[in-house]
Amino acid sequence: MSTIILKDIKKAFDKEVVIPNLNLTIDDGSFTVLVGPSGCGKSTTLRMISGLEKPSSGDIFIDDENVVNIDPGKRGIAMVFQNYALYPVMNVRDNIEFGLKNKKVPRDEREKLIKEVCEIVGLTPYLDRKPNALSGGQRQRVALARAMVKKPKVFLMDEPLSNLDAKLRAQMRIELIELHKRLGTTFIYVTHDQVEAMSMGDNIVLMDNGIIRQRSSPKEIYHNPQNVYTAQFIGTPPMNILSALIPGIQIGFRPEKTALTHIENPGLSIKGKVLTKEQLGAEMNYSIETSYGKVMVKTEEDIAGPECTLEVRKEQLFAFDDQGQRIEMTSEILSKLAALPQKG
Ligand SMILES: Nc1ncnc2c1ncn2[C@@H]1O[C@H](COP(=O)(O)OP(=O)(O)OP(=O)(O)O)[C@@H](O)[C@H]1O
Ligand SMILES: [Mg+2]
Repeated sequence: MSTIILKDIKKAFDKEVVIPNLNLTIDDGSFTVLVGPSGCGKSTTLRMISGLEKPSSGDIFIDDENVVNIDPGKRGIAMVFQNYALYPVMNVRDNIEFGLKNKKVPRDEREKLIKEVCEIVGLTPYLDRKPNALSGGQRQRVALARAMVKKPKVFLMDEPLSNLDAKLRAQMRIELIELHKRLGTTFIYVTHDQVEAMSMGDNIVLMDNGIIRQRSSPKEIYHNPQNVYTAQFIGTPPMNILSALIPGIQIGFRPEKTALTHIENPGLSIKGKVLTKEQLGAEMNYSIETSYGKVMVKTEEDIAGPECTLEVRKEQLFAFDDQGQRIEMTSEILSKLAALPQKG
């Protein structure tokens, strides 16, 4: 069981600072997801926790022990990468056993561990196969099994599913959620995919250029974004942000919380013109031009268009200041929105 604390972590490569000052506590037994766009510092953060990378300054604690000067192999951590790097000439059993032999684990115990872990990840029928005779998902399971036999205190995973096709990825996501429940070990999982982050994590850490923009549960980060960056990173299509409605204030609303027919007592009602309509199945994505800017609407409403009125409930409106920080939606802002000319 392990709590991990990153304290005043700074990381620079040569003179380029990629993480200015990171503070983060990862709760024991949590499934924490680090998410953010390419280059924001997710892998660097994970590698510093594992010990593969050393912070330029700051401390990392695992269960109250400062591990900054402790070797990766002695931190009680296992890491699973995107390219699982299995030994091609060894069969599944030998791939899993390799690290145990290195650690001089006795034979009986090795066999017991392999049996137990392969049962959990469903590899028992494949123990004698070489990696090239396995599917992508099965290879991923070997990489997991290899990490699991070490009985780590913490699992670190860096985009472990990105080599798999969409269907297998969805299946492996569920398997990892179940694995986490079963083991109760702390998982730290890195992805740039917000859907993956939202579906897997009980704790989401959204990063941007080495800074944490928000850290919340999936529900909270969707319903209560603290800034425009978060509001637009989580959810597809991203939240609409209009800055031309009220001077100095940005108004946000989600495409899926916008109506194209009249609703009772709306908080916002503006006229628009449909530019494109994309059929997704039951739902449609509309791109709509308004005199306050372009807006996306995701709805099951199938309108003839092109003229339309889009309306949003008061509870679905968000306010941000001109720096993009969330501010309270006041009755003053609401009355300014109500007084807006609809325009056409
Ligand atoms: N060894 C290195 N030397 C120099 N710069 C590096 C090194 N490793 C990472 N960086 C830089 O640090 C920044 C963060 O990289 P990092 O790999 O942590 O991003 P990431 O969030 O994992 O991105 P991705 O989603 O593309 O994997 C990037 O600008 C990257 O170019
Ligand atoms: Mg990365």
